[in-house]
Amino acid sequence: MSEWNYRTIIEPFKIKMVEPIPFTTAAERQAWLKKAGYNLFNIPAEKVTIDLLTDSGTSAMSALQWSALMRGDESYAGAKSFFVLEGMVKRIMGYSHVIPVHQGRAAERILFSVVGGKGKIVPGNTHFDTTRANITASGAQAVDLPCPEAAASQDDYPFKGNISLEALERLLKAKSQNIPLCLMTLTNNALGGQPASLENLRQTKKLLKKYKVPLFIDAARFAENAYFIKIREKGMSGKTVEEIAREIFSLADGAMMSAKKDAFANIGGFLALNDPAWAQKARNLLILTEGFPTYGGLAGRDLEAIAQGLLEVLDEDYLKYRLRSTAYLGEGLQRLGIPIICPVGAHAVYIDAKEFLAHIAPKKFPGHSLAVALYLEAGIRSCELGSLMFGQDAKMELVRLAIPRRVYTQSHIDWVIEVFERIVNKKETLPGFRIVSAPKELRHFTARLAPVG
Ligand SMILES: Cc1ncc(COP(=O)(O)O)c(C=O)c1O
Repeated sequence: MSEWNYRTIIEPFKIKMVEPIPFTTAAERQAWLKKAGYNLFNIPAEKVTIDLLTDSGTSAMSALQWSALMRGDESYAGAKSFFVLEGMVKRIMGYSHVIPVHQGRAAERILFSVVGGKGKIVPGNTHFDTTRANITASGAQAVDLPCPEAAASQDDYPFKGNISLEALERLLKAKSQNIPLCLMTLTNNALGGQPASLENLRQTKKLLKKYKVPLFIDAARFAENAYFIKIREKGMSGKTVEEIAREIFSLADGAMMSAKKDAFANIGGFLALNDPAWAQKARNLLILTEGFPTYGGLAGRDLEAIAQGLLEVLDEDYLKYRLRSTAYLGEGLQRLGIPIICPVGAHAVYIDAKEFLAHIAPKKFPGHSLAVALYLEAGIRSCELGSLMFGQDAKMELVRLAIPRRVYTQSHIDWVIEVFERIVNKKETLPGFRIVSAPKELRHFTARLAPVG
């Protein structure tokens, strides 16, 4: 497909197995919202027509992944499937130690239990919410140092996922002895799914080397980031995504990956690193809560599905379609005058709810209001990334429409755009929200809310 020059980028797959999607009435959706405390995480999936809550664990697996499941070796120790995964991770990332975990946040908890702790500081381009929570839970401080261009949400700067090298150097100069590692999240989910450039990663590595601080990668969406590098960064178009990915990982000392994203797996993740002492400590913690080091809380069949998914995500026809289909949704919303973060990332379209619902103050959660309106109007589930999710640390009031991989077709997306047309016409009537009850950490998952005004 790479040589094809058509306007329409067709889905580079055909569908072998289908799953019906539910349709509900407005009265049902109203009742479910009330019962759920206006929290979309509390709505049963069978009451959701199009689920754009997350791209995590929601991918459609391929025929080869389903058949790989049958090869799963369920031995407790030394399962063949572990070596299949280890081989694939080493091929792409090149790290000496590969430690499977049940999902990304388990890798975060283990890594920051090893390197975090009171007095430590972990900088990054912007930590994702579970990463931040795990750094904080270890007693350390999570510091976001996004590049200044990331703040201009409507600008087309191609690498808004970059870290600010100036801010990083200032922090390193002042506190390098307290910094166990610097984490680059690729792509930068919390700030709009924006990629970091290879040049920014190279410069980051150079700086960190000077201060003897290791670099780690949150690789949840590494292939999407690598493809952005291929098509946007000078001199990179002739390289394959696999070559670019290898170069990214060669700059770092280790990576964590939630395999629920770019590995098309419904569950799983891993920590991969070079330092033998850190790896040993990580494996000891793994045994305590996840499982033996060759399965880490997963079944052998999961390890096989992840390995096969890691191979498939390097397919550039897939990545071309992936980026194009997400941009297609963004363009549809822009035609309706809806402000979105530009340029559109690969895994989601992010709506600037603060601007779109300017009559709702951030403390009344404009992003949440839009997310509730989408569900009420047509059963579309999305996710707020703003004051409800990040509290005082919120930098923007966003609504994320995450696109599950290989799940929805263009007509599903056309329908979502049509629903937005109706929301635009009544946006001034949408209410703000207040929190009725919420836990201290990661409150957006379980908070209960009520409309105000
Ligand atoms: C960038 C990033 N890192 C880490 C995680 C955590 O992964 P998991 O949901 O598998 O625990 C996520 C999940 O969305 C993420 O987007």
